[in-house]
Amino acid sequence: MNIDGKLTAKKLRSELAVEVAELKSSCGIQPKLTVILVGEDPASQVYVKNKIKQTQEIGMISDVIKLPINTEQDELLGYLARLNNDANIHGILVQLPLPKHIDESVIISAISPDKDVDGFHAMNSGRLFNGDSGALIPCTPQGCIILAKQHLGNDLSGLHAVVIGRSNIVGKPVSMLLLQENCTVTIAHSRTKDLASICRQADILVAAVGIAKFVKVDWVKAGATVIDVGINRISTDDGGTKLVGDVDYDSVVDKCAAITPVPGGVGPMTIACLLKNTLAAAKRSVH
Ligand code: GUN
Repeated sequence: MNIDGKLTAKKLRSELAVEVAELKSSCGIQPKLTVILVGEDPASQVYVKNKIKQTQEIGMISDVIKLPINTEQDELLGYLARLNNDANIHGILVQLPLPKHIDESVIISAISPDKDVDGFHAMNSGRLFNGDSGALIPCTPQGCIILAKQHLGNDLSGLHAVVIGRSNIVGKPVSMLLLQENCTVTIAHSRTKDLASICRQADILVAAVGIAKFVKVDWVKAGATVIDVGINRISTDDGGTKLVGDVDYDSVVDKCAAITPVPGGVGPMTIACLLKNTLAAAKRSVH
């Protein structure tokens, strides 16, 4: 069966909308997200447009600062300093990737950890690593856990989770979250030996490698829960293109117990969790 990310994200957004209204009426605070977009990458423009639209749909304020591709790193740092000091802004997001002449890690470190709604700042990854409740947690990993729980219920204790991929944005943080849920966690990656047999042990299999249809049916244990984080555009026989995940969905769907489809699985949850983080940052700003 499919785990419906679109529906789960919709439900989460409507719950958040209620909380946004409550925060406004009780404290006079309306959460605000500011996004910085450098350059004109078409995919980034679509992502940013969706982030802005969805924040506003649930009653938050949001705006975009659009900067030209040749913006200097120092100029970007100047914008971040102003946003960090603006008490009316609760969430700051710098859309990635940045142009080559800008050092992403310098930029991420310059965002106030309290406003880092992507959860990419070392302070937030450190808090996640330590299991501190105050962490702002990266959005896609949060979405993965919510979707796994849609099928398995809230208690993931003792399950063997295999994560394929070790990126700072997905692989590492989702592994930490699964560990917090008392899973036994294996982190596999491109150098892992006998990946197929490790994946076959998984009760929860998270694929975050960025290779279309990488995970084959014989890598999946019957009855497993499969969370597919990949978004890969491939050519179709009729000369068009389509989006597919990191899992060979058509064969795996009949063997596993539940799988997140692509599109319509993890993708919609990412922005919903960004809204969740923005609300959390706004709430914390009150205290
Ligand atoms: N580019 C692609 N995904 C993301 C994301 O989750 N956050 C940011 N800041 N940039 C991205």
